Amino acid sequence: MKNKVPQPAAVAGDMDWFVQARFGMFIHWGTYAAAARHEWVKHNEEIPDAEYEKYFRHFDPDLFCPQEWARMAREAGMKYMVITSKHHEGFCLWDTQYTDYKATNTPCGRDLLREVVDAFRAEGLRIGFYYSLIDWHHPDFTIDPVHPMRNHPDAARLNAGRDMTRYREYMRNQVRELLTNFGDIDIIWFDFSYPNAEHKGLKGKGREDWDSERLLALARELQPGIIVDNRLDLPPEMADIHTPEQFQPHGWVTVDGKPVYWETCQTFSGSWGYHRDEATWKSPDQLIQMLVNTVSCGGNLLMNVGPTARGAFDDRAVRALQTYAEWMGLHARSIYGCTQSVFEAPQDCRYTQHGNRVYLHVFAWPFRHLHLPGLAGKIEYAQLLHDASEIKVLEAPDDKPLPEWMKPGSVTLELPVIKPRVTVPVIELFLK
Ligand code: GLC
Repeated sequence: MKNKVPQPAAVAGDMDWFVQARFGMFIHWGTYAAAARHEWVKHNEEIPDAEYEKYFRHFDPDLFCPQEWARMAREAGMKYMVITSKHHEGFCLWDTQYTDYKATNTPCGRDLLREVVDAFRAEGLRIGFYYSLIDWHHPDFTIDPVHPMRNHPDAARLNAGRDMTRYREYMRNQVRELLTNFGDIDIIWFDFSYPNAEHKGLKGKGREDWDSERLLALARELQPGIIVDNRLDLPPEMADIHTPEQFQPHGWVTVDGKPVYWETCQTFSGSWGYHRDEATWKSPDQLIQMLVNTVSCGGNLLMNVGPTARGAFDDRAVRALQTYAEWMGLHARSIYGCTQSVFEAPQDCRYTQHGNRVYLHVFAWPFRHLHLPGLAGKIEYAQLLHDASEIKVLEAPDDKPLPEWMKPGSVTLELPVIKPRVTVPVIELFLK
């Protein structure tokens, strides 16, 4: 029953705090929040620049209160945040000197990124920047298979006047600003590469288009210890974290058969940017189970919020964060610093482990008994985590036949008949 906990190879980034933290907030915010129908709306609807500008002209987040965002993140149990400094639309949340397409030139006239960074730092969270490699506004970014103008009849001719060399320099200048002017930055999240994409003769983009090696070297030079993601299209061992998105890994994430540090990013509903009419909001059970499942496989969860164009989290996002706040308030011990267990969890359960404490998360509450294979004789004490109430541990008798309600080779926990009033109950097992 004893499994070895996978150990990823050493990386350049500082992973110590990261594996302790386990839970972070992703924030996708830009002028697409005003369209309120996905951050890819410019691509999806092939909106020309001149028309898309209306979101910039009307971007006026009058309810923006980053202190509130940061408070909600901390209360939800999140230990770090990653925010879109620039998403694919090209709009910049900070007062960059390299473009006019930035928050300070919208009606709100503020450096939104700086205010967010200050607020989250004040709540004790670590700071990460998402930076889009893709840019649908920059005049030198060539039209490619994901560009809003990919179906333009003159795409090839228009591309002749675009110069990716200048765009590469633009990216380096911006990354230098981001990693110089905002103090210690813990994560940079470059997004993303698609070297094999093709559309009507247009080619995708990858490491040469971005000059990924130089970007990576610049990030590491400016912020030693910074954690860099895996979307630069470089050899996998050059990345610190691997980033499966929109699906739940069912075991420790591996690349070429080797375990890696990983962080899965997920949404409350099916969009990253604020989407008014999207309706697939996850239930409280799903939200908690995703976090537990992630940590039980040795990963981190980066859970996304898409603030509205008024600068607020909408009521559905607030409720989802409250779900985490309530649960984490009582169960954070089974998440922080925990990882995959050496034991195999019983049906409908997930283990996490920290030293000699094993946390048994019960996704479907059974009737009275829970049989734990591989743990016979190994448990010193057991309790429900949320209220520290004892759970009786029943070992098989050596001298008598096994009672019918026990299971050979297992130790049995005696549970209350009624499921405790928490979204996912956790039993804390103290090993001998
Ligand atoms: C995808 C999307 C993007 C989102 C990201 C988050 O790459 O392009 O909209 O920001 O995933 O992981």
